[in-house]
Amino acid sequence: MIASILVVDDEMDMQQLLKRSLEPALDCRVETASSGEMALNMLSSNRFDLVLADIKMPGMDGLELLELIKRESSDVTVIIMTAFGSIDLAVEAMKNGAYDFITKPFDHNSLVLQLEKALERSALLKENSRLKKACENANIFQDIVGESPPMQRVFETVRMVANTDLTVLITGESGTGKDLTARAVHALSPRSKAPYIPVNCPTVPEQILESELFGYRKGAFTHATRNKRGMFHEAHNGSIFLDEIGDISPVIQTKLLRVLQEKEFKPLGDTTTIKVDVRIIASTNQNLKEKIAKGEFREDFFYRLNVLPIKLPPLRERREDIPLLTTHLLEKHCSKLNRPLKEISGDLLHMFMAAPWTGNIRELENVLVQGIMFSKSNEIRPEDIGFNGKQKASAQSPNPEFFRNLAYKKAKESTLEAFNTAYIGNLLKKTRGNVTRAARECDLERQSLQQIMRRYHISADNFRKESS
Ligand SMILES: Nc1ncnc2c1ncn2[C@@H]1O[C@H](COP(=O)(O)OP(=O)(O)OP(=O)(O)O)[C@@H](O)[C@H]1O
Ligand SMILES: [Mg+2]
Repeated sequence: MIASILVVDDEMDMQQLLKRSLEPALDCRVETASSGEMALNMLSSNRFDLVLADIKMPGMDGLELLELIKRESSDVTVIIMTAFGSIDLAVEAMKNGAYDFITKPFDHNSLVLQLEKALERSALLKENSRLKKACENANIFQDIVGESPPMQRVFETVRMVANTDLTVLITGESGTGKDLTARAVHALSPRSKAPYIPVNCPTVPEQILESELFGYRKGAFTHATRNKRGMFHEAHNGSIFLDEIGDISPVIQTKLLRVLQEKEFKPLGDTTTIKVDVRIIASTNQNLKEKIAKGEFREDFFYRLNVLPIKLPPLRERREDIPLLTTHLLEKHCSKLNRPLKEISGDLLHMFMAAPWTGNIRELENVLVQGIMFSKSNEIRPEDIGFNGKQKASAQSPNPEFFRNLAYKKAKESTLEAFNTAYIGNLLKKTRGNVTRAARECDLERQSLQQIMRRYHISADNFRKESS
């Protein structure tokens, strides 16, 4: 794009002289203004790379104009023109943020040289701010990998919704990246510098969830020994992320509905209402419409939440992202686990491309972490992790070698996952995916069993299909 210069001078001759000489010499566009007021007007609706302003003008003088321009945007390059002999005014202009000054009358060639330098500076500043912006965006999205068309659409929607204050509902199966996406919506929004408060709804018991969300007054209940601010209060001016909202009770749904409608709430045991400015982002891996039909989810609450939906595609619908995700996750975890960078063998990648991935990216991530730990060389092979492409790798019983390489917590987690996947898998096989019967058989509440299944990404559907 060609550079644009705004010449501000009350003398028409000078305006014309500069326009005629600079346009061909600098291959730029020169616009003219005959007063400071007119210049500000033009600057408010157009972008200029450089402002060349006379210091002595009737009405607003050059120094005043400089001050107002700098107040609006400190990045604009301003050069002041002074009459020969008024060097002190020029110095003052430089102190106030002018980039340079020129004294009249001027020599054409040195003027062109000076302006060339100034335009170079403007171009650098412009490029710098463009890169800064691109960098900010890249950082936010660098953790969310995906080149497939469905993921590109997700990125586009995230960028679009981030600029609004509307409520966002992120849906998608377990492990599809709901958490990452919610963070990106906040980070790309004008609220990014304000708090982001994630609330994992199912892990907080119902009675506590209410006091955590809305806060309480001292004495509101037995253990309320002091006033406590709720998460909605903490999130003021920022965003709150209500993770797995499908699991919350109708009582809390009703209270949240009020916050969504009125943007206000009352802490427990308090009579005064607190008004907050909070952007709500919610997520669920459940089918809320089904829950509505069963009377487990309030329909009005659903519509308040589902203002801007973002649907994350399961991994099996965007298999072309698997190689890229694999590389990304290997880099991430090799460096986290302090291992040399590993890669996967061709046949393992082949199996990855065809695997069902019911636990989506989280499952892929688990498999890769096991691969990093198990493989003896820098290449991860199917036999290192007992991956056969059908079964979840974690369903295999871990071999003793596995433990030797793992920290206690990680070893325990993996064992628990292997146990649960195998135990519940067997039960579901037996009941052909009937969760109610499976719960009865193992003496668990249906809801508890469902919670465990969600945690370990066990889907009853797989067992229904297997038996048919
Ligand atoms: N597009 C992606 N690119 C890179 N990593 C991803 C992507 N999506 C998910 N992940 C990784 O997969 C794991 C699961 O992602 P996340 O926790 O965001 O999913 P989720 O949908 O919230 O899962 P859950 O339903 O289990 O809570 C995380 O470790 C995350 O970093
Ligand atoms: Mg999550």
